[in-house]
Amino acid sequence: MRVVRTVAALRRATASFRDKKESVALVPTMGALHAGHLALVRLAKRRCDRVVVSIFVNPAQFAPHEDLASYPRTWDADIAALSALGVDLVWAPGVEDMYPEGFGTRIEPQGAAKAGLEDAFRPHFFGGVATVVAKLLLQVGPDVAIFGEKDFQQLKVITAMARDLDIPTKIVGLPTVREKDGLALSSRNAYLSASERSQAPTLHRVLKDCAKRIVAGRPVVDALAVGRAQIEREGFVVDYFEARHADTLAPIISRKDGPIRLLVATKLGRTRLIDNIAV
Ligand code: PAF
Repeated sequence: MRVVRTVAALRRATASFRDKKESVALVPTMGALHAGHLALVRLAKRRCDRVVVSIFVNPAQFAPHEDLASYPRTWDADIAALSALGVDLVWAPGVEDMYPEGFGTRIEPQGAAKAGLEDAFRPHFFGGVATVVAKLLLQVGPDVAIFGEKDFQQLKVITAMARDLDIPTKIVGLPTVREKDGLALSSRNAYLSASERSQAPTLHRVLKDCAKRIVAGRPVVDALAVGRAQIEREGFVVDYFEARHADTLAPIISRKDGPIRLLVATKLGRTRLIDNIAV
């Protein structure tokens, strides 16, 4: 497994794949890899001849008050895990390579990026994500790029961005990988204290109960109100708990209006947790 740190070295490595007519999958990450990331890598290996994993903690998607400085960085463990899985190339640019002096372009996605979910609480977030993911796709030129469904709105934003900008990479989502107790895997779970960690699976349990109530015919608004109250009782501060159209993310009030995705974002202590499930 090679680690490259400049765009020039990256382009040489990917050109050698292309010369051999090998297909390429990209798994973009910010490091602090967990079993969810490794599932993305395994899918990438099944889909393509070569797998590139990018590791870049992207400052452009953090607001000044957010956790850029404390975001977990586990380089040695990440490299060991990727090497054990047979990844071909790790793309690990520095901030100065990704955003050199004079860098002055930012993609501001619309549509799904303005759905009133993550964007309402992290207004800077999708501009930063879209800009860095567009750069990663143009740098690596993969046939396929793989993202987790845990960041469901992000997956929609990136899919639309690649389509709108005619970037010829197929964007693929992989269902959320969970702990045995249902907690969605996230690098930020490392922030949870022991007692918060034992409360955290409530989120997934409430999402499942809420989905069951909707399937059983309870009005969506009522099912959401019950779920929100359950989460708040457990000490979570709810940013949003919503039922949205699974394709468009438009607000939805009845099962008749289309496939439903339930999406939740909360704070537990100082840790922000997000999750979602299909109804
Ligand atoms: O989901 C993430 O880890 C990040 O938002 C991504 C897609 C790697 C962009 O920095």
